[in-house]
Amino acid sequence: MLKCLLVVATKKIYMKKYLLYIICCIFFSAIIISCNNNVGEKKETFADSLNRKWWKEAVVYQIYPRSFKDSDGDGVGDLKGIISKLDYIKSLGVTAVWLNPIYSSPNDDNGYDVSDYRNIMKDFGTMDDFNALLKGMHDRGIKLVMDIVVNHSSDEHEWFKQSRSSRTSPYRDYYHWWNAERGKPPYRYSLFDVNHDAWKYDSVTNAYYLHYFSRKQPDLNWENPTLRQEIYAMMRYWADKGVDGFRLDAFQFAAKDTTWPVLPPDLKTDFVKYYAMGDGLHDYLKEMNKEVFSKYDVMSVAEGAGKTLEDAHNLVDEERHELGMAYPFDAVDLAKYPSTPGGEQYSILKFKEIFSKLDSAFAEKGWLSVFLSNHDQSRLVTRFGNDAPEFRDPSAKMLITFLMSMRGTPYYYNGDELGMTNIRFDKIEDYRDVATLNEYQYQKTHSGDLAEFIKRKAFESRDNGRTPFQWDTTTNAGFSSGTPWIKVNPNYAAINAAAQDKDANSVLNYFRKMVQLRKDNLALVYGKYTLLDKDNPAVYAYTREFNGKKFLVLLNFTAKDATVKTGIDISKAKLLINNYSTASANGSLKPYEAVVYEL
Ligand code: GLC
Repeated sequence: MLKCLLVVATKKIYMKKYLLYIICCIFFSAIIISCNNNVGEKKETFADSLNRKWWKEAVVYQIYPRSFKDSDGDGVGDLKGIISKLDYIKSLGVTAVWLNPIYSSPNDDNGYDVSDYRNIMKDFGTMDDFNALLKGMHDRGIKLVMDIVVNHSSDEHEWFKQSRSSRTSPYRDYYHWWNAERGKPPYRYSLFDVNHDAWKYDSVTNAYYLHYFSRKQPDLNWENPTLRQEIYAMMRYWADKGVDGFRLDAFQFAAKDTTWPVLPPDLKTDFVKYYAMGDGLHDYLKEMNKEVFSKYDVMSVAEGAGKTLEDAHNLVDEERHELGMAYPFDAVDLAKYPSTPGGEQYSILKFKEIFSKLDSAFAEKGWLSVFLSNHDQSRLVTRFGNDAPEFRDPSAKMLITFLMSMRGTPYYYNGDELGMTNIRFDKIEDYRDVATLNEYQYQKTHSGDLAEFIKRKAFESRDNGRTPFQWDTTTNAGFSSGTPWIKVNPNYAAINAAAQDKDANSVLNYFRKMVQLRKDNLALVYGKYTLLDKDNPAVYAYTREFNGKKFLVLLNFTAKDATVKTGIDISKAKLLINNYSTASANGSLKPYEAVVYEL
């Protein structure tokens, strides 16, 4: 009995202990679960609100390989040249490089006419060089974004050779053909053709083929599913090698109306409306996303963003699974010839309006590229700043401040970090660009004003942005020991990377500082943007705020003193960066002055 009682008592004690143990376990588990949940919740809320991605936080540096650095003295930049400058690229602080096309090409349009998408252009080197370049970038924490040129190929691509060989070739439908017995095809404008005519007659099969760009760039037929699968497989080939992103060249032109309706004459001005963004485009992008982008952690961006903000948005709305980032030209297109440095080259009010509208359209969903220059534009400081000797330095720094403090991913074109300027060729013989050369021919055969044409091109030709990178004061600016494929800007003695590297106040070192400031402050990447003093015709002022941090950016876009009224008390603000030795006070700004405060 006693034994029994003892057993029961002991059991009770054990039970109590056991119960206590269980209660404790439940209690602590609940705490742990709740903590985990909180962490999870916090994480989710944080990630959700920002939808953080490496490519949103990236600073993209664009390299035009032909003009960057020549390693073998043939006058053409190459991959080994880029490899030799990887430490320089790293020193900029940039985190991704967009490389203009490096594939096999007869170079009618400097590589934008691809004859083999899976090989490297001989001028640029070999696949081993490419692998070494990719590794060298990755070793330095830099991502590599490839340029994918698939609105068209070269006429020397095997697909086109087959396609033109016979009307029954399995490759015939890889391109757009119009059989000549139907008469002449309805007129289509060509951007690069000597006659502005996008249809070229080909006697082999008595038919016309379509080329929106040069005759050597026939447009691929995206309505053909076999072609599309070939393209996706090619993109996976590069992604499998480890590249980190794709920039789709001229892709809005891939979807066109192939019923070929007769269009009103001279639609040059509304090119996108009639020639691009056809119905199929979103389907192609969704398919590309499924077949390629979704399988890798890659950045994806396509040149151009349609006709409207809605178009742009639809391309990059995360829920639609198309592209990651939009690349709209609205602001870039503002700086037009005629333009004089420091003069009324473009309306600052319009400029502010465009960027503010873009920002609000993408504030909740989607993501933007922020850029003002690339390989198709003349030099940034010449177009949007002022390259007169007294203003080149501050205006280049002001533009850097702007591009590095906006919401979106900033892109910087090589050489702009030095404030390189337009070369302003004064004769056609100096030009190399197919667009400029063919347009000159067109003007000549159509009694155009050739002197005016040359003046215009000195301001706007893209060859201005393609002169060799100015490394130092040695022969050819240190670009090449041979004869460069295009002339070097003679101002390399004054504007070059070596000199600027040593000068703490140079444009180059300002660029490095501003990149670092952006990288140190998520507010400059994701923060809310608020435009201030909206109607100020000279100053662009805005705040960026996020998570308790607030920055004020003041930019004088003119060559004159200016004042700004922000209504913000900056007496206690911390001055983070400015492009003069002392920042102006009381809302007054010196010519092209740029200041960033933390409030
Ligand atoms: C894009 C490229 C440009 C090229 C054209 C044709 O606009 O950026 O350089 O000439 O497409 O490929």
